[in-house]
Order: sequence, then structure tokens, then C-alpha cells
Amino acid sequence: MSGALLQVSNLETYYGPIMAIRGVSFEVKRGAIVTILGANGAGKTTVLKTVSGVMDPQKGTVTFDGREIQGMDPDRVTRLGLSHVPEGREIFPLLTVAENLKMGAYTRTDTVGVARDLAMVYEYFPVLQARTHQRAGQLSGGEQQMLAISRALMTRPAMMLLDEPSLGLAPKLVKEIFDIIVRINRERGVTVLLVEQNANMALHVADYGYVLEVGRIVMEDTCARLLEKDDIKEFYLGMKETSIRGTRRWKRKKTWR
Ligand SMILES: Nc1ncnc2c1ncn2[C@@H]1O[C@H](COP(=O)(O)OP(=O)(O)OP(=O)(O)O)[C@@H](O)[C@H]1O
Ligand SMILES: [Mg+2]
Repeated sequence: MSGALLQVSNLETYYGPIMAIRGVSFEVKRGAIVTILGANGAGKTTVLKTVSGVMDPQKGTVTFDGREIQGMDPDRVTRLGLSHVPEGREIFPLLTVAENLKMGAYTRTDTVGVARDLAMVYEYFPVLQARTHQRAGQLSGGEQQMLAISRALMTRPAMMLLDEPSLGLAPKLVKEIFDIIVRINRERGVTVLLVEQNANMALHVADYGYVLEVGRIVMEDTCARLLEKDDIKEFYLGMKETSIRGTRRWKRKKTWR
């Protein structure tokens, strides 16, 4: 079990006449957690939407598990084992937690497996079990994020695409969600492509990272090495270089993150 599970080559995606993704290539090895970092509007969401079939590219290929999937219906992509947790979560607010989870498993006919996976998501997120019969719209932002991840898990994915799972969450909850993402990767063998503005968290949980700027990949490396790069420290980790008696040091700027 090695090699790339997802291979994206020379992808170009447009909104009308506007080219949002300008020839992007990257790969995600089976079993890895890979992150794509980028500022607002860099094109992160568009990359994920193009990979999952929500948007069709003008050019380029998306190969998942040896099969070209660009332009395929999102529904078919999910059935192949690639599950997208979109930005803004997109849960069904009027359905209960249990009904939302059932929607995740609608493609499956293995009742026993579905029941086992339901028990598994409740083990990862006990708070969802406590709220099984509550309408999803009444959950907190963090709980809705947990529900969105759980719904994706109910499809039994080989790989998950996560779009800013930390968005709008309190720092303690951000840590909790990332810890569970790492557990899902390690314990369930789910390969993860994580898109994040919270670069500090993403670089600490992922193995390999790409930096997207205005629709292009401008840098890639192991996360350990990215964490050491001056540009990353300055522009993505909010750190500032200071000189104390001639010795250069990086200090964290005060930010809300
Ligand atoms: N529906 C749309 N119509 C036209 N342009 C769009 C649309 N959605 C996104 N764009 C543009 O495409 C580019 C990439 O947007 P995208 O949402 O992929 O960025 P992002 O990196 O996910 O940003 P954010 O961090 O804000 O989520 C931006 O310039 C954005 O303005
Ligand atoms: Mg986005």
C-alpha cells in the first residue's frame, strides 16, 4: 500500500471567464494527511470542489485510486470512496443528527456495516450520540462540524477532503477536531486532504503541505520543513523576525489564532 491515492495534474477551473485555478498539480499518498494552505481567495475551496466533482475543470486530470474522475458526478465520486466535507458544513438543519448520519450512508446496503460505523462515529463524537434526536440546525458550530465529518465517515471513505474544519471554532474545539482527524487517519486508515487557513494547526497534523497563492502552487515540502521556512513563518504563521544583540529570532506576533 504505497504511491499516490490522489493525483491532480495541470488543473484549470473557471468561474465564468475568471480562471480561479491556474494549472495546479499535487498528489496525496495513500494513508497520508496532506494540507493545502492559502489565504482568502487563493482557490482552496475551488480545488476541493473540482476534485470532488462539484465543479468541472476546463483542463487537467484528477486521478483517484488509478481512475480518472475529473468531470464525474459528485455522487459517483463519493461512491468510489472520496468524500468531501464542504466549507460551511452543509448539513441538513431540519433533520435530526441520526437522520443526517443516515443520509451519509444512503449509498450503502450493508446494514450491519452501517450500524457498526454509526457506533464508530458516536465513539469519536460522544456529543452527537447525546443529541441523536435533536435537529442538526440546533447544534453549535463545533457540533455541526463534527456531524459533517461523521456524515462523510458514514460513506466509508478511503479518502476525505476537509474544507476548513476549524473555521469559526473556539481554539479548544479546534484542537479537539484536529485530534480526531488524526485518529481517523491513524485508526481507520483514511487518507486526508485538508484545506486550512489555520496554518499552524494544519502544519502540525499533516505530513506534507502545498502552498496555494492566487490559483497556483508556489511551494511544497514536508510540513516539518515548511514550518522552518521564513516565508511560511512570516505570512502563514504570523511570526516576526527580531534581532536581539545580533542574533536573529522568530517571535509569534499577537493574533487571535
Ligand atoms: N461563485 C463564484 N463566482 C465567481 N468567482 C468566485 C466564486 N467563488 C469563488 N470565486 C473566486 O475564485 C477564487 C478562489 O476562491 P475560493 O473560494 O476557491 O478560495 P479559498 O481559498 O477557498 O478562499 P477562502 O479562504 O475565503 O475560503 C477567488 O478569487 C474567488 O473570488
Ligand atoms: Mg474556501
